[in-house]
Formats: sequence, structure tokens, C-alpha cells
Amino acid sequence: MDIPYKKLSSGVKMPVLGLGTWKLKQDACTKVIQDAWHAGYRHIDTADVYQNHLDIAKGLKGASREELFLVSKLWHEEHHPDQVEPALDRALKELQVDYLDAYLVHWPKKKGHLPDVIYKMDQMMEKGKIRTYGMCNGTIHHMQDVLNQGLKLYIHQFELHPLFVDENIIQFCQMQEIAITAYSPLGKGEILQHPTLVDLAKKKDRSPAQIVLAWCLHKDFIAIPKASSPLHLEQNIASCLIRLSVKEVSLIDAINENKRLIHPDFAEFDY
Ligand SMILES: NC(=O)c1ccc[n+]([C@@H]2O[C@H](COP(=O)([O-])OP(=O)(O)OC[C@H]3O[C@@H](n4cnc5c(N)ncnc54)[C@H](OP(=O)(O)O)[C@@H]3O)[C@@H](O)[C@H]2O)c1
Repeated sequence: MDIPYKKLSSGVKMPVLGLGTWKLKQDACTKVIQDAWHAGYRHIDTADVYQNHLDIAKGLKGASREELFLVSKLWHEEHHPDQVEPALDRALKELQVDYLDAYLVHWPKKKGHLPDVIYKMDQMMEKGKIRTYGMCNGTIHHMQDVLNQGLKLYIHQFELHPLFVDENIIQFCQMQEIAITAYSPLGKGEILQHPTLVDLAKKKDRSPAQIVLAWCLHKDFIAIPKASSPLHLEQNIASCLIRLSVKEVSLIDAINENKRLIHPDFAEFDY
């Protein structure tokens, strides 16, 4: 099936459902990418640190570049403006493409030259090496550091699922027209037994994962669930067809416990 697009404030159109690839590696990764492309996925989310660029490139052999929306990320150890282009060139070479559709700062650092790195990404866009850019895991403060310099952010990717909904960041992004990508949208699979989701799934004859993804799309969040089996790939893509009522959405909204599942020691969530 065709996945709908969201038009970013940069004008670029991004498929609202993508495939997360964290922890997918080697032949298993290549196979999932092939299955995903076959199922209709066009948006693939990776990162330098996932070490699967080469496996993804193998899986995308023969895929139409114009249809593909490829996202990768600049790891926090390379957050210096001089490191942006070499890291990007390395990613392009590994992924065997001439440009990325989106390049994101992975785990911004307050002392990490963030606005200069974003400025460099803007130059990479001018050069045609990326189509758009943004960050992951930033706080409002990180985002303000960039915007205060007159620079733009087009995408912000952060942890977002029914158990963890940070309304402040969401509202800030919406006000600044920064598209939101929900990562770990299925709570790493750990939220799928929640009684509200199981109940709704039963009532609507769908799976809990499909209910969560339908909720993300209803909220205008781009979602990038990771899935490894053809069944999960198919189920997740079919969530684009599910409509939730206002009442169903509010039941899912009520699940929030501000429970972050991803909190590495280098994160700056208190900045
Ligand atoms: N920017 C960042 O710092 C950052 C951090 C974390 C994640 N991410 C991105 O977000 C992506 C997704 O997050 P995630 O990998 O943490 O977790 P997730 O997508 O929330 O959950 C993945 C888990 O859900 C299971 N699953 C998938 N579809 C299912 C279905 N239909 N029914 C039941 N279970 C299903 C998967 O199982 P199977 O594998 O068995 O299908 C896997 O165990 C990552 O892969 C990565 O691309 C970005």
C-alpha cells in the first residue's frame, strides 16, 4: 500500500511511517529491508552508530532512489562543524547514495557546537548532499540554541509512545513547525500488553501495535517502528488505514506515565 506523506516546513515530503533499524544488522537487516521495500516501506531510519549502513544498502539494491526516503544521523562524538561533511560523505558511501533525505544530529550536546553543526548541515543541503535536516533527543533549550541563531530545524526525532508523551516538547515543535518523529513508538514492544491497548485492539479487531501506530499518525507524529518479521512489517503498515475516534484517542492519551525507556548516561535531558 502507499504510505501517506507529511510536507515538512522545508517543503520536503516525508512518509509518515518508516522502518526503524536500530539493532538490525548483517544479513538479517538486509532481509528486513528487502521485505520492507516489498511491503511498501519507503522511509528507512538508520544512524552511523547502528553500524548497518552497508547492510541497508544491500537490501536497497534495485530500489528507486526517488521513492526512497533515507534518514541517517551524526553521532555525538562528531559534533564539530569540521566533522559534519566527512561523516556525511562516509554515510553516503556506505549507503551507496548521492544524498540523504534527512540528516539528524544524534544526541545534541550543549557544549557541542550545536548551532555551528546545524549551520554546516544547512550548507550540506545547499550542496545537494541532504534534502533536509534536524536533531534527535534535544530539549527545548537545545532547540532554542539553534533557533536563536536564526537557523532552522525541520525534524525533531525523540522518544514518544503512549507511556512517554512530553507535551512541552511536542507543543514547542508544533509552534516552530518542526515535524515530530516518534522513536520507539511501540515502547520497544514493552507497552503492547497495556490493558487499554489490548482492549482497544480487541474491540477494533486489530493488534495493540496497530492501535499505537494509528494513535501516532492521528497525532501528526511520524512513526518509525522497528520490526523484523514480514507479519509485523505488514501489520504496522496497515495501521495507516485505521481511524480512531476522539474517545479512543483520549483513552490512549490517558496511558501516559512520563516513563522514558531510553536514557543513556550521555543524554542531556536536564539541559
Ligand atoms: N534517535 C534516537 O536516539 C533513537 C533512539 C531509539 C530508537 N530510534 C529509532 O526508532 C526505531 C524504533 O524504536 P525501537 O527499535 O527502540 O523500538 P520500537 O519500534 O518501539 O519497538 C520494536 C519492538 O516492537 C516489536 N514489534 C514491531 N512491530 C510489532 C507488531 N506489529 N506487533 C508486535 N510487536 C511488534 C519488534 O519486534 P520484532 O523485531 O520481532 O518485529 C521489537 O521488539 C529504532 O529502530 C531507531 O530507528 C532512534
